[in-house]
Amino acid sequence: MVARGWADNARYSVPMTSEEAIAQLTLIRSEAASQAAAAESSERLRELEIIHLGRKSPMAAIGRSLREFPPEARRQVGQAANEARNVVEQAIASKLNELESSESATRLEAQSVDVTLPGRRPARGSIHPLTQVLDEIIDTFVGLGFKVAEGPVVETEYYNFEALNFPADHPALSMHDTFYLDDNGAAEPLLLRTHTSPMQIRLMESHAPPLYVVIPGLCCRRDEIDANHLAVFNQIEGLAVDEGISFADLKGTLEIFAKNMFGPGLRVRMHPSFFPFTEPSAEVYVSCFACDGSGCPTCRGEGWIEIMGAGMVHPNVFRAAGYPPGITGFAFGMGIERIAKLRYSVSDLRSFYDNDLRFLAAF
Ligand code: DAH
Repeated sequence: MVARGWADNARYSVPMTSEEAIAQLTLIRSEAASQAAAAESSERLRELEIIHLGRKSPMAAIGRSLREFPPEARRQVGQAANEARNVVEQAIASKLNELESSESATRLEAQSVDVTLPGRRPARGSIHPLTQVLDEIIDTFVGLGFKVAEGPVVETEYYNFEALNFPADHPALSMHDTFYLDDNGAAEPLLLRTHTSPMQIRLMESHAPPLYVVIPGLCCRRDEIDANHLAVFNQIEGLAVDEGISFADLKGTLEIFAKNMFGPGLRVRMHPSFFPFTEPSAEVYVSCFACDGSGCPTCRGEGWIEIMGAGMVHPNVFRAAGYPPGITGFAFGMGIERIAKLRYSVSDLRSFYDNDLRFLAAF
C-alpha cells in the first residue's frame, strides 16, 4: 500500500508501502534507542529527541501520512508508530535520568570542599621601608611638639630659589638642576621642586610664629641615577621658629632624632657648610653605628656618616616670608631614601623602587 506526500528525510524512500513504513519504524526505533544509550550528555539526548521525535522527524512524517493508508494498513502502521515512539521516548528518558544523576554527582564532586584542609591565608602586604622610616622620623618630631605639613611638588622659581636667598647666579644652583614644565604663558617658570625647603616660605607666609613643623615630600633633580642618586626622591624638612632659638636647640633636637633613628649610643657632630637659606649652615654627621667611629666600609673608613643639612634660618628668608625682624629659627633637611639606606644597610638606593617582593619582604 502506498502513502504519498512525505519526503522529510532523504534516507526514507518515497512513496512507501505500509510494510515499508513499518520496516522504517523498526529501523528508527532500534537506531534511536541505541543512539540514546550511547549518548554522553543530556544535551545530546535533547538533540536526539528533536531528531527522532520532533516535528521534522521521519517518525512524525509517517504519522502525518497515516491517513493515506487504507484502514487496516493504517491501524498496523499507527500501532507500529506508537510503539516506536514509546520505545524511543523511554530510551531517551531513562538515559537522561542516568546521565543527570551522574552529571550532578560529577558537579557535586567538583564543587565539594574538603573541610579538613588547612586554610589558605591571604598574602599580607607590609609597609614599604621608606614609609616605615618616614613614619619613624615623623614620630620623633611629633613627640617633640612639631606639626606635619605638606606642599606642592610643582613650584615656582620664587619659592624654590629666590625666596630662599639663592642668588640668581650662585653655584649652589647647579646642584639644584631640575625639570621645568611647559609654562603655557605662566607669569613665572614652573619647575619640580628640588627640595622641601620652599615650604618654609609658604608656611611662614600663612602662619604667624611660633612655628614648629616638619614637611615630608617628593623632590626631583636632574641627577644621573646611580646607587646613591635618584632623580625623584623624598626629603623631610624641619623648621622651628620662635623667640630666642639658638644653635644649641638645633643640635639638641637633631641629637634626639639621630639617637631615636640610629641608636642611643651614637654621637652627633656638625661641620660648617653652606646653604643660601641658613647662616650659619652645617652638615650633620652621626658616629658610624656599624663601627662606632673607628672606620669601616659603612662609613667609608671615616668613622662618621653625613645624614642631613641644617642651620639657623637666614634673615633674608625671614624677610622674604614677611616675618618680624629679630625672630630666630633653625631648619634642617634630609633625604628619606638616604636615611633608610643607612638605617637598613641597603647598598643601592634604587632597591627601594625596584618593587622586588623578596627585597620588600625583608623589612
Ligand atoms: N634643602 C637642602 C637640600 O636639599 C637641605 C637643607 C639644608 C634643608 C639645610 C634645610 C637646611 O632646611 O637648613 O640640599
